[in-house]
Amino acid sequence: MKVTAIKGFSDIFPGEVETWQWVEEQARRVFAAYNFAEIRIPVLEKTELFSRSIGETTDIVEKEMYTFEDRDRRSTETTEATKLTLRPEGTAGVVRAYVESEMYKVEPVRKLYYMGPMFRRERPQKGRMRQFHQIGAEALGRGDPFIDAEILLLLSDFLGALGLTEPSLQINSLGCAECRPQYRETLLTFLRQRRESLCDNCQRRIERNPLRALDCKEPGCIHATKEAPAIIDSLCAVCREHFATVQRLLSETQVRFALNPRMVRGLDYYCRTTFEWTSDQLGSQSAVAAGGRYDGLVEALGGPPIPGVGFAMGVERLTMLLRMKDSGAPRGPSVYVVWIGEKAREWAFPAVHRLRREGLTVEMEGETRSMKSQMRRADKLGAQAVLIVGDDELQKGHALLRDMASKQQEAIALAEIVAKLTARKAS
Ligand code: HAM
Repeated sequence: MKVTAIKGFSDIFPGEVETWQWVEEQARRVFAAYNFAEIRIPVLEKTELFSRSIGETTDIVEKEMYTFEDRDRRSTETTEATKLTLRPEGTAGVVRAYVESEMYKVEPVRKLYYMGPMFRRERPQKGRMRQFHQIGAEALGRGDPFIDAEILLLLSDFLGALGLTEPSLQINSLGCAECRPQYRETLLTFLRQRRESLCDNCQRRIERNPLRALDCKEPGCIHATKEAPAIIDSLCAVCREHFATVQRLLSETQVRFALNPRMVRGLDYYCRTTFEWTSDQLGSQSAVAAGGRYDGLVEALGGPPIPGVGFAMGVERLTMLLRMKDSGAPRGPSVYVVWIGEKAREWAFPAVHRLRREGLTVEMEGETRSMKSQMRRADKLGAQAVLIVGDDELQKGHALLRDMASKQQEAIALAEIVAKLTARKAS
C-alpha cells in the first residue's frame, strides 16, 4: 500500500524549490543590509513556552498546536511542563533563546532572523497549510518607533526585491500596559451588551480575552463588533506619540499604509505597533507578512524588561504570488551542451566540468541521442542557452551557442567558451 504525506503537509519539488531558494537568498541579502543575523532555533519546544507567550485563549494555543507527551516521562508526571509542541511560530523560540543564553548581558540590542517550518493544525485550504514556512525577524532591545519603521522598511524593500508591489500594508496600535486595561474594560462593556450575537467561542472567551472578538471571522461576530470602540481612540499619550512617529517615518520614506483600527492579531503578546501586509490575489488567506511590537514578552519568559518588535512572512504565500506573476528565479540550467559524435562527447565531458567549476549550471547527455532529442530535452529542462558541438565544428575549432529565449545563434571559438559563458552568466 502507498504511504502518503499527512494532510496539510507537502513536499516542495525541484522546479518549485528554486523559487524558494531565490526568495531565501533575497531575504538574506536584505536582512544583511539591515544588520540582522541569522538564528536557528529548535522545531520542538516545551508547550508552556507557547501557552505563556502566544496566550492561553488564542486559537493557536486552544486548538491548533501539535502537542504530545515526551516519551521518556512517566505518565504520572504529566503536567503542562512535560508536554512538547511543534513550534507554531518563531517569536517565542527566539525570545526563549535570547533569555536563556543571556545574550542581552553582552549586548541587549539584537537583530535576529530565522527561516523554517512552523506547524498549526488548521483546516487546510489554499494558502493555509498545517506545515508551513516562515521567514521572520525579531529586533530585541529597542523600544523606539524608529525600529518599528525600520522593520516595515525592511519588509517593503524585501517585497520590492521580489518584484511584489501589490501587497498593501495595514497598521494599528494596540496600546500598552498603561492604556490597554482601560480599553479592555470599554470593549468588554460593549461586548457584554451584544453577547447573544457572538459565536460560542467568543461568548466563552470574552471575559478573559475580549480583544479576540474583533479578530473573529464568524459573520455574527463581525456584524456585532462593527461599531465597537477603536483602540486607537483609547491610547495613552506615550503610545499616541509612538504611533504618530511610526506613521510619520513611513510617510517620509514613501511606504504606503492604511490604518486598520480593528486589527488585533491572533497572538496575545503584541502591544503598540501591529501590522499586516495583505494581497487581494491570495483569496481568504490574504496575509503575506505580519507582526508587531511585544514589549512584555522577554520579561514574561523570565528575562529583564527588554522590548521587542518583529514580523514573519509565509513563504508558501510569497511563492504563490510569484507564481501568479510568473516570476522568481530563472529556471533550468544556464547551459545545455548538445554533442553530436563520439569526438564531440569526449570534448564535451571535460568542458562541462570546467564550466561547472566556474559556477554555471550545466547539463549534458551521456548516451548517444539525436540532435533533435537533445534539443527537446534542453527545452524541457528550461535551459537558457544551448552549446552545440559536432565532430565537424570541433575540427573547425568552434561551437554554436544558441540563446533559447531569443533563438539567436552565434559561432564561438572553443578556446573562448569558458570566458564567453561565464560573462553571459554575470550579465
Ligand atoms: P502570524 O500572523 O501568525 O504571526 O503568521 C505570520 C505569517 O505566517 C502569516 O501572515 C502568513 O503569511 C503565514 N502563515 C501563518 N499561518 C499559516 C498557515 N497555516 N499556512 C500558511 N501560512 C501561514 C506570527 O507567526 C508572529 N510570530 C509574527 C511575528 C514575529 N510577530 C512578531 N515577530
